[in-house]
Amino acid sequence: MSTPALLKIDDKEIACPIMTGTEGEKAIDARNLRKDTGYIFYDQGYGNTGSCESAITFLDGDNGILRHRGYAIDQLAAHSTFVETAYLVIYGELPNPKQRKQFGDLLRQNAHVETQMQRLFEGYPKDTPPMAMLASLVASLAGYYPDLATNNFEKDLQQFDLSAAMAISKIRTLGAMIYRHTRGLPFMHPKDLPFCDNFLHLMFSEPYQDYVAIPEVTNALNLILLMHADHEQNCSTSTVRMVGSSGANLFTSLAAGIAALSGPLHGGANAAVMQMLQSIHDEGDDGTRFIAAAKGGSKSNRLMGFGHAVYRNFDPRAKVIGEACGVVLKKLGKSDPLLDIAQNLEQAALKDDYFISRKLYPNVDFYSGIIFRALGIPTNMFTVMFAIGRSPGWIANWREVASNPKGRIYRPRQIYVGPVKRDYVPMAQRG
Ligand code: CMC
Repeated sequence: MSTPALLKIDDKEIACPIMTGTEGEKAIDARNLRKDTGYIFYDQGYGNTGSCESAITFLDGDNGILRHRGYAIDQLAAHSTFVETAYLVIYGELPNPKQRKQFGDLLRQNAHVETQMQRLFEGYPKDTPPMAMLASLVASLAGYYPDLATNNFEKDLQQFDLSAAMAISKIRTLGAMIYRHTRGLPFMHPKDLPFCDNFLHLMFSEPYQDYVAIPEVTNALNLILLMHADHEQNCSTSTVRMVGSSGANLFTSLAAGIAALSGPLHGGANAAVMQMLQSIHDEGDDGTRFIAAAKGGSKSNRLMGFGHAVYRNFDPRAKVIGEACGVVLKKLGKSDPLLDIAQNLEQAALKDDYFISRKLYPNVDFYSGIIFRALGIPTNMFTVMFAIGRSPGWIANWREVASNPKGRIYRPRQIYVGPVKRDYVPMAQRG
């Protein structure tokens, strides 16, 4: 047991217990501070606040480390698949052959979307943002499977294996249906195929012409989904936990996570990177002008795909995906001028004092779009791909919240800076 931290406020000394994680992470336990002193800690954006204890993912942003359930991301990238890593993230251990088969069977059996639910698409204009559709469709699952979504943790957890597999499988199928809806194409029915091949079939098969699986494409998709499987307490995962902490069922909590992911500073960054690279290309810039503008400090001119809220060293996912980019393009016999621009930008930024002094390195989104593009996935679908990949992490985090008997509703405090108490002014007396 560590010596408590001592906090001195006015003349009073308060002892706050120290917490230590399994990787030596330290925290000051301030849960009783307000009760004991009337003070709260102010931490806008929760950048220095531990909101939970979690056994899923360890991330050390200063040293570029990311591990799921103890396994390093580069080892998982080299040896695992998305489905196996999803199982690991959700259940805590790599599956044995029997567990892997059962999980795969559940994913296959729950890949379809009910005919009645398919009709929801008729109500969406073709240009509805894909993430808006995905969030509302996933929320609707609570209506189609009410027995799995009772808003009662005990009951919902009894059927967790089914609802978890259903969520992963259907988010994948709904993602492909969203793509086809925006293009005015008929939906394809899922087949008895491995997870990634089924996605590619749902996206690219035609009524009389089945998509023919290309191993390199399947492998690249597996890799990129795996790379997104979980990422500690990021904005969307914290949102899932926050919504789940109110007792909300898995599907509703996932819908909230999808909404949080849609913003350009989070999951939307992968699409923003491609738009940035494309405009640099269209303007005939080699990236030099863009880099100069990005150093102006304006949020609207940032070098998208660079910087990270927690990595102050390289993002280990960016390293794997950056290396995979060239390999995938070569295997598919494709070239992409945007990859050359991205590499030039990276080289220039890594030599530039502005980026070095602020510890800004490429993040997961910097190269992922180039792989998505090589797979034939359009830019407006990139964040949906991120959501498919992140679904296991959200599910694992919801489960931690739902199965914690000591858990409490997430309810941060604030510092009020509005007007002090004043009396109501009748309409006739207002100027
Ligand atoms: N380009 C130029 N300057 C930047 C950038 C960038 N991409 N990112 C941060 N800065 C500057 C920022 O202006 C600030 O400068 P100063 O100290 O002079 O005011 C300094 O670096 C620190 O920035 P910050 O806003 O405190 O950093 P943050 O930790 O709050 O923000 C971030 C992290 C990811 C929102 C931000 O780096 C950013 O906007 N990056 C571009 C968007 C992006 O790629 N997002 C994807 C994140 S990874 C996927 C995910 O997990 O969601």
